[in-house]
Amino acid sequence: MSSALITGTTSGLGYEFARLFAKDKYDLVLVSRNMEKLKKQKEELEKEFSIQVSVYAFDLAKPNAAKEVFETVSEQIDILVNNAGFYEHGNFHESNLDKELEMVELHNTFLTALTGYYVQGMVQRKQGKILNIASAAAFAALPYGAVYGATKSYVLSFSKALHVELKQHGVSVSALCPGATETEFAKKSDIESTPLFTGVVMKADKVAAIGYRGLMKNKNMIVPGWYTKGMYFSSKIAPVAFVNKILLWMMRKK
Ligand SMILES: NC(=O)c1ccc[n+]([C@@H]2O[C@H](COP(=O)([O-])OP(=O)(O)OC[C@H]3O[C@@H](n4cnc5c(N)ncnc54)[C@H](OP(=O)(O)O)[C@@H]3O)[C@@H](O)[C@H]2O)c1
Repeated sequence: MSSALITGTTSGLGYEFARLFAKDKYDLVLVSRNMEKLKKQKEELEKEFSIQVSVYAFDLAKPNAAKEVFETVSEQIDILVNNAGFYEHGNFHESNLDKELEMVELHNTFLTALTGYYVQGMVQRKQGKILNIASAAAFAALPYGAVYGATKSYVLSFSKALHVELKQHGVSVSALCPGATETEFAKKSDIESTPLFTGVVMKADKVAAIGYRGLMKNKNMIVPGWYTKGMYFSSKIAPVAFVNKILLWMMRKK
């Protein structure tokens, strides 16, 4: 029996990923912040899918969180899904700097460290898979989400490099780059009124299923949906000034 560790499973994409792995009979290690929700999720998944689920509550944006998780979780991890994340909206000069730095910690420092801890065992066993949740925000600089976009560009670049390095060691690394997706994400950051979230928004279960399939096929970069694929190709060929204008419009709150 293989086991998968998923971060940020108490809502949205992480919740859907947990169900997909459970359906395929993986034992699960779920790491999120809210123990009450985690316990409920464990009960639901164990009952529905007859698998073993271990749950751990950590604030993953705290310094050294990855080390604490690695030292606490006793299970062997065959698949790691770095999913936990959040968004902060607005002009950088007016933003809550502590929140922005928390984002850098969670999206970049924590993700890098957790990958670093678990990849060693995977390389030794010559097998393993890592799925990092980047974003369409990684395709171009993101006005009003400057730090978010930059952290997700890091995730995409880091994952693409590891994909190449680790292939020869039997470990596959994939980056999922969703566009606007129906989860708690937009509500928590109050960006539901932006053209990005009033336009084409994908269902979380669909995005997770595309990510899951891509991971199983050892894909390097996974871009779900025709609309997000269009955004990706446009960002490669359109003039930067044009892309900037479009993104400025898409991210402006009504
Ligand atoms: N939804 C989109 O449009 C979209 C688009 C592109 C990429 N993404 C990425 O997809 C990933 C999942 O987001 P989502 O859309 O599913 O949003 P979500 O519904 O808000 O889920 C985020 C999950 O991460 C957890 N989390 C956040 N900060 C945490 C922390 N400090 N410690 C532990 N857990 C933490 C949340 O737990 P709490 O509820 O306790 O905060 C929740 O379980 C993120 O990396 C996000 O950047 C989302």
